[in-house]
Amino acid sequence: MQVEGQSKIDHIHTPPLKIQGIKTKLVNFIVSKAHWDGSGRWVEPFLGSGVVLFNINPRNALVTDSNIHIIKFYKNIQQGKISSKRVRDYLEKEGMKLMKVGESHYYEVRDRFNQDWESLDFLFLNRAGFNGLMRFNSKGKYNVPFCRKPERFSKSYITKICNQVAWISKIIPNTKTWNFRACDWKEALHNLKRGDFLYLDPPYYGRHTNYYDVWTYDDISDLSDFLHSTKSKFALSLWYENQYRKNDDVREFFSDFKIYKYEHFYHLGSTESLRNSIVESLIVNK
Ligand SMILES: C[S@@+](CC[C@H](N)C(=O)[O-])C[C@H]1O[C@@H](n2cnc3c(N)ncnc32)[C@H](O)[C@@H]1O
Repeated sequence: MQVEGQSKIDHIHTPPLKIQGIKTKLVNFIVSKAHWDGSGRWVEPFLGSGVVLFNINPRNALVTDSNIHIIKFYKNIQQGKISSKRVRDYLEKEGMKLMKVGESHYYEVRDRFNQDWESLDFLFLNRAGFNGLMRFNSKGKYNVPFCRKPERFSKSYITKICNQVAWISKIIPNTKTWNFRACDWKEALHNLKRGDFLYLDPPYYGRHTNYYDVWTYDDISDLSDFLHSTKSKFALSLWYENQYRKNDDVREFFSDFKIYKYEHFYHLGSTESLRNSIVESLIVNK
């Protein structure tokens, strides 16, 4: 970004939460193509894991997501209620139980989380669930199955997660400069101020729909109307094409903006030869 003169971040950190569509590999692509001078707020209405926000590390931010558990988790770090030490104590205890008892302990934590909404249980499920998925059913209950590795929380895995939490604790500023809120994207964009920069990474409609992913054709159409009328600078991430099909939304709604493309590969399973490519786009207005 031309965020305050940065055009590349040397080391991209990964945050403690994982989510489908996480943009870890794309942070530097975003940084190099979006133009923002760093004044105003970084406004990110589809926060997800937070990997873009935390690596960019803006001075002022309004960051929101419809998923209250994500927002609560980061607010707890911001307020000092969750620290790397607390995460270590918790994961050592729960990881040990998981190893002794096996998968029924995962499901016990899942039931507990679906009742109490505790952030540490959310972290545990996110890091012990199948394929790093974050998924809720239509009633808002976390429903990812166990990854089938009772020995999941090894010493080094716990240390890795604790370091990720310690990194967030170190950079996250107070509530005055970074405002986290759980709300719909439309509400987040209601009170934009001059100089605010928008980074948007909505979910794909028709896929991965669940309680917190309320995203339809009407949403993308409304988002297009909004982006065509806003005075704020923005960068919008949308997948562009894969080997099977193109994303028609890019052409239908955003072809009059500047579209940058970036191809990357992902592995299917553990075999090197089974790899597919996807082309992502970053759509910017100025
Ligand atoms: C593709 S993910 C964002 C990924 C993120 N950029 C990252 O790198 O981790 C989309 C996010 O939008 C959120 N979301 C889905 N529908 C929403 C809505 N209607 N309003 C606000 N957020 C929504 C989901 O909870 C999810 O966290």
